[in-house]
Amino acid sequence: MRRILVAGNWKLNGSLAANAELLDGIIAGASADAPVDLLVCPPYPYLAGIADKLEGTGIAVGAQNVSQQASGAFTGEVAASMLVESGCTHVLVGHSERRSLYGESSKTVAEKFEAAQAAKLIPVLCIGETLEEREAGRTEAVVSEQLDAVIEQVGVQALADSILAYEPVWAIGTGMTATPEQAQDVHKFIRERIAGLDASVAEGLRILYGGSVKGSNAAGLFAMADIDGGLIGGASLKADDFLAIANAAS
Ligand code: PGA
Repeated sequence: MRRILVAGNWKLNGSLAANAELLDGIIAGASADAPVDLLVCPPYPYLAGIADKLEGTGIAVGAQNVSQQASGAFTGEVAASMLVESGCTHVLVGHSERRSLYGESSKTVAEKFEAAQAAKLIPVLCIGETLEEREAGRTEAVVSEQLDAVIEQVGVQALADSILAYEPVWAIGTGMTATPEQAQDVHKFIRERIAGLDASVAEGLRILYGGSVKGSNAAGLFAMADIDGGLIGGASLKADDFLAIANAAS
């Protein structure tokens, strides 16, 4: 049985005061025996402080990005080993905002995935199509290309120590959630594609859905056979909203 994971991607939001209020709310409201794992992904400067604050709560901490480089003359970059030292266990790679706004290719994303795993971080690999690509009937081709780049880089076995997030770009921050059926179709496609290479890796792999998930639509999504949780943007910034999604998993 795959456990549901609810992950918050805070993006470029937060402050010491706002983070404290948000986390106090989540800690107070999260039930330790709920059948759901929680992960928060704040901006870099807050990671170490938040990891300290969350120690012993069972809530995991991840970064939103990582360098593909281990060290050296790469101004502005942050290495996977540094994230580990900051208390991270996870890191997002290939979020569509990184791909579209910062020009990250599937090859770069695959290198980041590899760098994360080399430091023993669990990469959360984000893949998904734009509206234009969906309307052109290219959804499966696009997610396959994004997934295959990683499999080519690290091999299918490496996916066993990772998490996938299917995030249709047209659903991110738009309020236009994919229906549970639309999401399930793509999740099933992804799992079957991986099963073609390694059935047991495919069976164990958690595939999250992301894109305008909220308390009111989470239960329908999480009830689908191949949806194993959510990657939450906007609704991860308020404790009540985030907890409502976590509760939907129970
Ligand atoms: P959203 O963002 O929940 O605000 O749509 C999801 C994401 O970008 O991970």
